[in-house]
Amino acid sequence: MTILVTGGAGFIGSNFIIDWLEARDEPVINLDKLTYAGNLENLAGLRGDPRYAFFQGDIGDRGLIERLLEKHQPRAVINFAAESHVDRSIHGPGDFVQTNIVGTFNLLECVRAYFAAMDDSGRAAFRFLHVLTDEVYGSLPAGAPAFAETHRYEPNSPYSASKAASDHLVRAYHHTYGLPALTTNCSNNYGPYQFPEKLIPLMIVNALAGERLPVYGDGMQIRDWLYVSDHCAAIRRVLDAGRPGETYNIGGWNEKPNLDIVRAIVGLLDELRPRSDGKSYGGQIAYVADRPGHDRRYAIDAGKIERELGWRPAETFTSGIRKTVLWYLDHPDWIANVRSGAYRDWLEKNYADRSR
Ligand code: NAD
Ligand code: DAU
Repeated sequence: MTILVTGGAGFIGSNFIIDWLEARDEPVINLDKLTYAGNLENLAGLRGDPRYAFFQGDIGDRGLIERLLEKHQPRAVINFAAESHVDRSIHGPGDFVQTNIVGTFNLLECVRAYFAAMDDSGRAAFRFLHVLTDEVYGSLPAGAPAFAETHRYEPNSPYSASKAASDHLVRAYHHTYGLPALTTNCSNNYGPYQFPEKLIPLMIVNALAGERLPVYGDGMQIRDWLYVSDHCAAIRRVLDAGRPGETYNIGGWNEKPNLDIVRAIVGLLDELRPRSDGKSYGGQIAYVADRPGHDRRYAIDAGKIERELGWRPAETFTSGIRKTVLWYLDHPDWIANVRSGAYRDWLEKNYADRSR
């Protein structure tokens, strides 16, 4: 038995592979294109582990996917591979359409042929799990109930539109071809190995570097935050027991405005790594121009996965954010490596004209 993970060198994918091999003995094949967001350093601890194999490649490369499926005969494919950063999708939506929509389509085509050629017992066991996001549901008004699985898709950014499109294809492949597909719609993850373009690691890394902490708009946009290992546990649970054709929302029951998140990080850094001048990192907070089309609020109703599959997050925000800050404090080399090179160009592009 083997599973194929795509995008396993990214933030959630690498956490998923590490947690998977800690929890079980089933081998993992990792297919990743190694874009700017893919980092094999995350998986350095698995070097020499016979249960793990890495292949560099694109989910849109049908020849490669066909060969991998044929050779390794996975009993499940878990698709994390994506362009994942909303701000980058605003600056350049093309890669998002290419990977998230066209790439998913090509992957589905290969998986469909692979599934069709299986015997009955192989087909009964096979799963395609598509990792999706709460952003496909659009922005919630204040006070409105959290997103349930039945909430209509109203994506507002090129990123969320491309993810929604990919999920429509997955749904169609289930209904039309009987592919045993599962979709998980998760809220904002945080934890080890997250690339510091996203809010939480960006704030930690900028604070330590003495740089400004750029808060978009008024900082009162609300997200639901989930520690990454809880997301990984939820995916394992859906893979084991989820009903094909179903969507499961995954969230932390933890809605917070961005400013609260930034202040929590500031408080932890003031405690754990005080500034040499004795002042608070809070002095580095800078309000900058807002993200175009910025969704005001996301909130996840994770009741279905709890009722049907018995999953609930294990971490609270207090425990998860402390672990996260400690992880970044303990990994200065990892930070230095990802902040070098092309990442500097991104910071210049995204933040240069945001000054107010
Ligand atoms: P990430 O950007 O950190 O990692 C994405 C990975 O996919 C990288 O390793 C990259 O090299 C790889 N990749 C990109 N294009 C590829 C292609 N064409 N072929 C093969 N590999 C490719 O993203 P993440 O934050 O780990 O998110 C993983 C998945 O989870 C994405 O599908 C994302 O939409 C979804 N998601 C993320 C969050 C979050 O908060 N980060 C929340 C919900 C859902
Ligand atoms: O909700 C799930 C989604 O969460 C995932 O699908 C995406 O892949 C993931 O990137 C994330 O999207 P967000 O846009 O919510 O995450 P990001 O970390 O970019 O931003 C979180 C919030 O913080 C958002 O309201 C924008 C704000 N922000 C972000 C950055 C990078 C700032 O105020 N300043 C910043 O510099």
